[in-house]
Amino acid sequence: MGFENILVTTSGRVGIVTLNRPKALNALNGALIAELGQALDQFEADAGIGCIVLTGSDRAFAAGADIKEMQAHTFPATYTDDFITSWERLSRCRKPVIAAVAGHALGGGCELAMMCDIILAADNARFGQPEIRLGVMPGAGGSQRLARAIGKAKTMEMCLTGRTLSAEEADRFGLVSRVVPLANLMDESMKLAETIASLSLPAVMMTKESVNRAFETTLSEGIRFERRLFQALFATADQKEGMSAFIDKREPSFENK
Ligand code: CAA
Repeated sequence: MGFENILVTTSGRVGIVTLNRPKALNALNGALIAELGQALDQFEADAGIGCIVLTGSDRAFAAGADIKEMQAHTFPATYTDDFITSWERLSRCRKPVIAAVAGHALGGGCELAMMCDIILAADNARFGQPEIRLGVMPGAGGSQRLARAIGKAKTMEMCLTGRTLSAEEADRFGLVSRVVPLANLMDESMKLAETIASLSLPAVMMTKESVNRAFETTLSEGIRFERRLFQALFATADQKEGMSAFIDKREPSFENK
């Protein structure tokens, strides 16, 4: 399928989506979000894909929702069209998604990164929710996911002033899993994605589902949920293979079924 605002490639069992509106610093317009949704649909339907990497350019992961597109929006239209809800396709992705973030990850760009499961940051990455400076506020989950990731005080300061975080701060505050030199960002992200994609897909997907459940429910319900998934994995061929390989002192070869 031909895309105009993203590049879509694969490498082994890893699917890669590169946001590609360089002149607009990957500002997220409706067309780009629709294409991202289509690319995710393709990767989710492809049994040969075990992990997805979402990235941008060295200068910008994404500088936010497209302000030029939004400027004329009205309340009735944003309400009836349910503006922004289609962005949630990324957070409904059942396969793991790694955000490889370099440069600006602002507004909707920061929110898109936070919808992913792991954020790897280049040392030039900057994260922020500057919508308040435009007379609005985060609209794609920023005030909620940021608060869960780094706590109320830091989230309030960022959302109420538009202050951005350096990669080092984002690492220290727990927003990203680690910071790597810009030149190594894609290599490190691909290594991480290849590791995940080499493992049992049902186990990987259930693990993602279980960790995410921690943000949606009580501890006792979350533990019950985790236990049922853990028990279910004993129905998979990959459980037999993984444990047999350990006992036989060899590398496992997962069927991913
Ligand atoms: N929407 C539309 N165009 C954008 C954009 C955006 N979010 N961000 C950057 N661009 C465009 C600029 O208009 C400019 O285009 P022109 O050359 O045609 O003028 C081009 O990208 C390059 O940008 P700058 O010249 O501004 O580059 P810079 O290096 O001086 O500054 C920046 C970079 C600090 C990221 C600055 O562009 C900026 O502040 N961008 C807006 C960031 C922002 O406010 N994001 C939040 C958007 S609202 C939102 O996301 C809502 C939500 O929650 C979903």
